[in-house]
Amino acid sequence: MRQLPAISALLVALLAASPLNDLDAADDPGKPALDPLTGLVMAQGWQLVRAHCFACHSMKTITQSGKDRSNWAKTIQTMQRTEGLYPLGEMEADILDYLEKNYPVSDKPHNPKIRRPISGF
Ligand code: HEC
Repeated sequence: MRQLPAISALLVALLAASPLNDLDAADDPGKPALDPLTGLVMAQGWQLVRAHCFACHSMKTITQSGKDRSNWAKTIQTMQRTEGLYPLGEMEADILDYLEKNYPVSDKPHNPKIRRPISGF
């Protein structure tokens, strides 16, 4: 029974490394926490996004989305052209850095308003 502590330590290490822990970023000290108000990843530049993008709509438009840098830039331009978003000046590059890094293109389903094709028929 002398091995028991070693086996328990191994089990704890295996559980800690389990991919199941990725389900909740807030529980993983390796990942930045989420802002409780907006759900934005609290990484470099997040306050800029909260300050300049949160006035008109929920941040789910961002957190449930994923685009490359040029498509994020197009989104900002569209909003400036059609929704009245003011020019962001030199902050635009910092905002794009944040969006590109934290909300990149992903093949995970991200917009619950878009129905996935029904499989199994
Ligand atoms: C002046 C108001 C306003 C501000 C400020 C604003 N938006 Fe929007 N945004 C809108 C409106 C209105 C829509 C919905 C338009 C639509 O979907 O046709 C929208 C839609 C979106 C969408 C979903 C549509 C798409 O193209 O994917 C995203 C993403 C988005 N905004 C990101 C941002 C980001 C990033 C910022 C900050 C740089 C921002 N918004 C700031 C008004 C604004």
